[in-house]
Parts: sequence; structure tokens; C-alpha cells
Amino acid sequence: MKIRAVYPGTFDPVTNGHIDLIRRSAALFDHVVVALLRNADKNPLFSIEERCEMLEQAVRNMKNVSVATFDGLLVDFVEQIGAGVIVRGIRAISDYEYELQMALMNRRLSSKVETVFMMPAEAYSYLSSRLVREISLLGGSVHGLVPRMVESRLKRKHASRAC
Ligand code: PNS
Repeated sequence: MKIRAVYPGTFDPVTNGHIDLIRRSAALFDHVVVALLRNADKNPLFSIEERCEMLEQAVRNMKNVSVATFDGLLVDFVEQIGAGVIVRGIRAISDYEYELQMALMNRRLSSKVETVFMMPAEAYSYLSSRLVREISLLGGSVHGLVPRMVESRLKRKHASRAC
């Protein structure tokens, strides 16, 4: 039986921590769909198109990984594409409570979908998209935390926002 997994998120922007987790998932499952939420209740730095482009570039050498966008409930998307697993990363114990709540709620919404928690490499255990956005906005270096193309896009984005 082939197992298809979905790795969902807002990826604003994709970090090396996300990519580490995608690689680990791709080694475990037959196919991994990186699913980008379209209607997030946040004010994103990058548009959905920009985030999708960055993700596609980041996974282009991974044969069993694809990128998709979704709206609405995650479990509906997971079922629609015939996947049975949601992958979520847990960096520290502080992630656990929120992730557990989401996993149990998703299980209540669909008993066919299982959530699998995975840990990124230790080097990325303190990394988040929010910190990357903040550091780059304030002129700090995010080298080694995100792919080079994301680093360049962050520089361009902040340069174009300067008054
Ligand atoms: O990158 P994030 O912000 O941690 O990702 C959160 C995401 C996209 C996984 C979550 O917000 C989500 O699944 N949204 C879709 C709407 C949904 O299904 N809500 C119920 C979750 S229990």
C-alpha cells in the first residue's frame, strides 16, 4: 500500500527547518504533498504565489515531493487527494500543546486521517518563519537558516518596502 502524506503550513517563507522535515518525510512516505494554506488569517510577508514559487524551487530535486495550495479544512484536502497522513514538525515542547490540539481536532473531523509528528535536525530547533521575517526586516543575517533564493527574496522584499 502506497502512503501519501501531506505536510501543511503557511511557509512565509519556507525555512531550512521546513526543508529538513520535507526530506525526512520523503524518506518515510511514498509521496509527500507540501500543502500551502491559501486563506490564512494572517497578514503574510510573501504572497501565495511567491511562497508557492519558493517551495517549488526548494523541493525541485526531490522526486516524490510536490507542492499544492488548499483552502478550507485541511482534513478535507487530505481526503480529496487520497492521502492518509498529516505530517507536522515539533521543535520543542512548546509546540506540542498547539500541535496536539490540532491533531486531535483533525482526528475528530476525520477518523481516516492520522497525524505524524516529526522532529527537525537540532540545528533548526529554534528556527521559525516568524523569526526569519523579523531578523531580515531588522537587517540581520538569515544566512544558513533559509535557502539562498529565499535570502535574496527577503532582501529584495525589504528593500522595496523601505521609504
Ligand atoms: O504553518 P502553520 O501556521 O503552523 O500551519 C497551520 C496550518 C495551515 C496547518 C493550520 O492552520 C490548518 O490546518 N489550517 C487549515 C484550516 C483547518 O483545517 N483548521 C482546523 C485545524 S484543527
